[in-house]
Amino acid sequence: MQEIIKKADVLLEALPYIRNFYEKTIVIKYGGAAMLDPEIRRGVLQDIVFMNYVGMRPILVHGGGPFISERLRELNQKVDFVQGFRVTPAETMKTVEEVLERVNRDLVREIISLGSSSISLSGKDDHLIVTKKHADIDGVNIGFVGQITKINADVLQKMVTSDIIPVVSPVGLGRDGSAYNVNADNAAAEIARAVRALKFVLLTDVDGICENHADPSSRVSHLSVQGVEEWIKRGDISGGMIPKSRACLLALDRGVKKAHIINGKIPHALLLEIFTDKGIGTEIVRK
Ligand SMILES: Nc1ncnc2c1ncn2[C@@H]1O[C@H](COP(=O)(O)OP(=O)(O)OP(=O)(O)O)[C@@H](O)[C@H]1O
Ligand SMILES: [Mg+2]
Repeated sequence: MQEIIKKADVLLEALPYIRNFYEKTIVIKYGGAAMLDPEIRRGVLQDIVFMNYVGMRPILVHGGGPFISERLRELNQKVDFVQGFRVTPAETMKTVEEVLERVNRDLVREIISLGSSSISLSGKDDHLIVTKKHADIDGVNIGFVGQITKINADVLQKMVTSDIIPVVSPVGLGRDGSAYNVNADNAAAEIARAVRALKFVLLTDVDGICENHADPSSRVSHLSVQGVEEWIKRGDISGGMIPKSRACLLALDRGVKKAHIINGKIPHALLLEIFTDKGIGTEIVRK
């Protein structure tokens, strides 16, 4: 009996959060690095379906870095990064699109199998993500890497108000009609701004931002906007964490109230973050 009563307590703890988030849009970036284990992935998608059933409006934007690199190696194509950007000649872009399309369809299929409605979107659909070619970096032409110039959020708004979970792959449309590779953290942040999301959550494969990223116990629970820039300058935030922390700043800059970086490999990290009193991961705050 006590056991069952405890369960009621757990549900009641979630009530203020459910009320707060009712009919509110939440943008979730799901990184490729936390997608590799099927059991963990199922847990993440279950959480998103749960959010949908209690009246929230989740939008999922996914990455796919590890899957793309693996496929490029299989095809004997070069895997090359400059300052965290994947060097993307036309041949690589074709592979990037193919892999992201597969990742996207798998996520949609799984969400549907868990009981929610979901639709697959690429940033090219309905001019959702419009880009221009990224400038050269250190004199290197990085190919089909796009810088986002505009988001057409109409299609996303229509879906979420119809109770459909949009799943967006980070491919942008260039003015020349070509597909461009965009950083998924950045795409998710631009989308969060455009739909005026209440919350922005980045799911990755580490517990949050760590002072020393080889030591998970050095995670900080809060970091300010100034802190992020200082840490990047000092080199304490590096690699894939740079676009992620900058994405939080970008989202907070317009309307988004809270931005979090959490470990998607912790079972039900999303539910813990959203529906309980103890936050996990790192929250980026305005001051
Ligand atoms: N200060 C830091 N604290 C924590 N992690 C850091 C830090 N600096 C760099 N990192 C690195 O950032 C990585 C997360 O970014 P990464 O781009 O690899 O994953 P992702 O964005 O979740 O996946 P994808 O790029 O496929 O969408 C961590 O695995 C870690 O190695
Ligand atoms: Mg990344």
